[in-house]
Amino acid sequence: MPRPKALLGTGVILAFALTACEGEGAGSADPDPDADPSDLTAGVAMPTQTYERWLNDGAAVEEGLEELGYNVDLQYADDDIPTQSQQIDQMITQEVDVLIIASIDGSALTGQLDAAADAGIPVIAYDRLLTNSEDVDFYVTFDNYEVGVNQANALLYGLGVLDENFEEAQDAPEETLNIELFAGSLDDNNSHLFWEGAIDTLEPYIEDGTLEVTSGQTDIEQAATQRWEQETAQERMENLLTTHYSGDEELHGVLAPADPLSRGIIQALQNDGWGDTIEDGLPVVTGQDAEIASVSLIADGVQHSTIFKDTRQLADEAIVAAEAYLSGEEPEANDTETYDNGEIVVPSYLLDVEMVLEDNYEEILIDSEYYTQEQVDSGQL
Ligand code: BGC
Repeated sequence: MPRPKALLGTGVILAFALTACEGEGAGSADPDPDADPSDLTAGVAMPTQTYERWLNDGAAVEEGLEELGYNVDLQYADDDIPTQSQQIDQMITQEVDVLIIASIDGSALTGQLDAAADAGIPVIAYDRLLTNSEDVDFYVTFDNYEVGVNQANALLYGLGVLDENFEEAQDAPEETLNIELFAGSLDDNNSHLFWEGAIDTLEPYIEDGTLEVTSGQTDIEQAATQRWEQETAQERMENLLTTHYSGDEELHGVLAPADPLSRGIIQALQNDGWGDTIEDGLPVVTGQDAEIASVSLIADGVQHSTIFKDTRQLADEAIVAAEAYLSGEEPEANDTETYDNGEIVVPSYLLDVEMVLEDNYEEILIDSEYYTQEQVDSGQL
C-alpha cells in the first residue's frame, strides 16, 4: 500500500495511516485489489539500452507482468535525465498503478516521486536506489557492497595475492604489484557501494605495500566514469598509460566496475601493446554483469573476471513486489537496515551475486541456462 505522504513521519503515525487505509478501497490512483489485472498498468522506467543488462531487465519485467495479465508501459531514457523525468511524469499523468524505476541519477526524481505519492502510486526502485525522498516504497537489488568485495577479491586472485580458496597465497609475488582503479557514475548510488566494498578489501594490501596505485588516483571522484560510458573509461586508461606507464613501469591489474568499461580498458591496453591475453602480459581486469561479450573474453583468457547478477531473479522480485502492491498488499523485505536513502531506510529485497572466472563460467552461466556455450563462443546473444 502506498504511504499517504502527509502522514509520513513517525512509526506511530505510519502504523495508524496504514490501518486507516485498509478496507477503504482504492483512492484516486490506488490499485484496487479487486480490479482485473487487465485494468491495471505498471510503468517501468529503465535508464538506457546501451548496456545489455538493462535490455534484459526491461524485457524480463515486461514479460513477467504481462504473463500475469497486467499492462506494461516500458520506457528507456537514453541515459538522459530530463527524458527519464518526462517519461515518469507521463506515466503518472496516465495514472499507472505502480512504478518500477531504474534511475539514471537516483536523486533527480524527487519531484516525480512526490507526484507519484500524491497520486497514490507505489514506487519500486529497481537495482539503483532512489535517494533524498521519503516517497520510495520498496527497493529490489543485489548485495551491492558484496559486488565490490567480489571484484576486489577477483583482482587479488588474478594477481596471485590470494589463492583459489581466496586465502593468502603461499607463493604470492614478492614485488609490489601496480594497479589502477575505476569507479562507475557518481550519481548512481550503486557506484559508491561497489567502490566501498572494493576499497575496504584492497586497502590493507595497499597499506602494507603489496599493491600500489601508481597514478595515486585513489578517490572515487578521480576514478569515476560519468554515465558509465565505455569511451570515457577507455580514454582515462589511455591517459593513465601515457602519463604513468610510458617508461618501464609495469601495470598488473585494473579494478573495473562494469563489463563495458572493462572492455574499453582492455582495448586501451591492447592498443598500447600490453598483450592480447593475460598469458601474453595483459593486466588482470575485473568486471560486472556477465555481459556476453565479456564472458566470451573471459573464456578466451582476455578479461579476467566478472560478477554475475542474475537479472532474471531481480525481475522476478520486482514482479512479486509489483503484484503485491497491485493486489493491495505489501511486498516482503529481506533487509530493512541497509538502504538509507537520506530520508528513510527503504525496505529492500537483496539478491546474492557470484564471481565468474575462466574456470567456473560454465557452471555458473551455462548450467543455469543464462547462456548457451554457442553464445559464449560467438560472444553474441
Ligand atoms: C548496475 C550495474 C551496471 C551499472 C551500469 C549499476 O547501477 O548495478 O549492474 O553495470 O549500473 O549500467
